[in-house]
Amino acid sequence: MIAAHKVSVAIRSLRIRGMTAQWLYALGLSAILVMLPFAVRLDGRPHADWLQFLGRFHPSLVHLPIGMLVLLPFLELAGTTRLGLREAAGFVLHLALATGAVTLVFGLLLAYGSGVMGATVSRHMWGGIALLIELLACVTVRPAWISGQLQRVYPALLVVSLLTLTWTAHQGGSLSHGSDYLTRYMPGPLQRFFPSASTATDAAYVGSVYMRSIHPILDARCVACHGASKEQAGLRLDLYELLMKGGRDGAVIAPRNPDRSLVLQRVTLSPTDKHFMPAEGHTPLTADEIAALRAWILAGASPTATTIPGIAAAAENADLPLQPVGDYTYLMNEIRQIQRSEGAKLVAVSATPSDGLILRTINVASKFDDTQLARFQRFAPFIVEAELGRTAVNDDCFDTLSKFTNLRALHLEGTAVTGRGLAKLSSLSQLTYLNLSGTKVTSDALVQLKGIPNLRHIYLFETPAEPASADTNRTLRSLR
Ligand code: HEC
Repeated sequence: MIAAHKVSVAIRSLRIRGMTAQWLYALGLSAILVMLPFAVRLDGRPHADWLQFLGRFHPSLVHLPIGMLVLLPFLELAGTTRLGLREAAGFVLHLALATGAVTLVFGLLLAYGSGVMGATVSRHMWGGIALLIELLACVTVRPAWISGQLQRVYPALLVVSLLTLTWTAHQGGSLSHGSDYLTRYMPGPLQRFFPSASTATDAAYVGSVYMRSIHPILDARCVACHGASKEQAGLRLDLYELLMKGGRDGAVIAPRNPDRSLVLQRVTLSPTDKHFMPAEGHTPLTADEIAALRAWILAGASPTATTIPGIAAAAENADLPLQPVGDYTYLMNEIRQIQRSEGAKLVAVSATPSDGLILRTINVASKFDDTQLARFQRFAPFIVEAELGRTAVNDDCFDTLSKFTNLRALHLEGTAVTGRGLAKLSSLSQLTYLNLSGTKVTSDALVQLKGIPNLRHIYLFETPAEPASADTNRTLRSLR
């Protein structure tokens, strides 16, 4: 009896020691996994070609662990009644862990070899590491689950692993197909749950040649690989400051010197050159796009210049495309609040937030003055139309209005403005419509409107500045 008891204690302690050894083993491996990214630092520089050559197997290898992990819960479920399948499940789990580890190594080779970095790259890498650690935990607790202990832990870990897998695979998909691959053709109502990731824009440069002609080229052709989520060669081309900062080899734009600008060199190489941009058979720039880039760099690569020889001016583009203004929905609470306190309304132009807001004062016009207008400054970049007709504003309103950088239409008819300070509106590059009818504005004051590049319609009915022919086009021409 006593001997039997001793044996059973010894066996139990062995089992416990075995378990502890298993856990220590899993912990050690997890620590190594967590340290990998620090050992293999992604620095935005490509390394030996053979690293990248091997790394390029990562996107196909990855399907092995994915397939096994998706199969696993089915095997475990069926295994509750069929012992053979339960054994198979254990085997598949180990195989998923092993192929997962190989895939991770190839993924690191790909990132390190090609010199890619960026937020999505990091998320994808850490997702893969987390998944492997979770699988290690699964392998460690599964024997206990089989023997009837820790009933909930293993199934819970399995669910967590599958969720991590989904998330990590999505990050990987964004890297290879672009971050809007899944959402681009999604039905509208669903899209609202997936706000587009990158909303950063050079709002300050709206209306410049850079924003009208250069940024759209880089955005369409280059940002998939040189943007926030993926920074090939440590280079981002989605924001002006970053474009000018350059990549791993320093500046890529040499103002006034197109031939020494790496950006231009790379897009004008022979398309078969290894360094030709856009890389990997993406649609090359057209001759016009290259000419625009060259002209812009030659003129000094300014972010603010509104006309540059060789690039069609805004006025020549009959229909200026409307600038999206960014998403104001995060301000909805504040918008409701200010509507309540001021009585004036901020009305959406359409169901699409980037179409902007209209400031409507009709209910409170006689009481709406410059102080109240200033309170709407918080929403300035989102307001595309300001209906201030017959309100109590005066020339001080131009201080606030100059901050409404996306304003397209401005109604000031029947107000006390005299035109002093109209020059402050010259920062409004999107302004096309200005109604000053029934004010004291004089033709002398109108000269200050010269700097507004896109102004097409001015109304001066019943003002000292009213043109004899009521021909606003002539007024505009005489301003230029
Ligand atoms: C399919 C992905 C991809 C696209 C699209 C792409 N690039 Fe690249 N780019 C890369 C990779 C990878 C590198 C690093 C390897 C190399 O230097 O050739 C790179 C490097 C560069 C460099 C060198 C940066 C440095 O500091 O050495 C420049 C400049 C550049 N790209 C410009 C562009 C421009 C301009 C476009 C758009 C017309 C563009 N790229 C589009 C992948 C891409």
